[in-house]
Amino acid sequence: MGKIVRIVLAAGLGVSIVLVVLLAGIVLSHPEVDTKPSPGVPTYEDKRGDQELAYLLVKLELRTRAVIGGHYTRPQSAIPRVDFIYKRWIAKNTILPAAVADRIFSEVVPGATGGRAWVKMVVKDPRNPHNRGDSTALELLGTIQGGSATAERSTAEAYYYAEPIKATSACLPCHGDPRGAPDPLFPQYEKDGWRAGDVIGAVVARVAPEM
Ligand code: HEC
Repeated sequence: MGKIVRIVLAAGLGVSIVLVVLLAGIVLSHPEVDTKPSPGVPTYEDKRGDQELAYLLVKLELRTRAVIGGHYTRPQSAIPRVDFIYKRWIAKNTILPAAVADRIFSEVVPGATGGRAWVKMVVKDPRNPHNRGDSTALELLGTIQGGSATAERSTAEAYYYAEPIKATSACLPCHGDPRGAPDPLFPQYEKDGWRAGDVIGAVVARVAPEM
């Protein structure tokens, strides 16, 4: 009897250890999403009021993109090719970081601020017209693509804040070479000729002062 109890206890312990190791594996293998402030990048403590709102909006949009993207770029041992993963999981379900972020931010931010604020993913030739930058946003995109970790500007009308969007190899099936060829997954759009590591755009927030 005592022997059976011991065997059951030992088996239970064994199963628990295996479960803990598996859980730790899942937690540790989750892709890194950058939440740490980069060197030289201001934190919210440096900002107040409209500046703090613009900063928060940029962080939220970047983070939303990273969380959605992170789900689909997780290593999946049975399916080693990232483009294949994107095709099956993202295109098929039409869950794209940029498309989801746009649906949330382009509705909520202007709606909740009475049109006082917006945040968008500004690139030179946007697929989605919501992402078309005004002249100040395009200037900030230029600064960001010139190598700055952040860019900001106060005009007579509003405060602008921007941080970079970088391409990785996972973006290239849709946005890579050859530029101008149809995106194989979304043929209504053209490929952009982006390369992995390029700063291809900027998340830019604009906040006008309260009247
Ligand atoms: C499966 C194809 C696909 C992949 C992979 C993909 N994108 Fe996109 N991307 C799109 C589509 C389609 C849109 C337009 C979404 C919309 O209608 O708002 C888009 C829009 C964007 C935009 C918004 C600017 C614009 O043109 O409107 C950015 C920025 C962007 N993608 C960056 C990336 C980055 C960075 C990656 C890799 C981390 C990536 N994309 C991966 C298909 C893709």
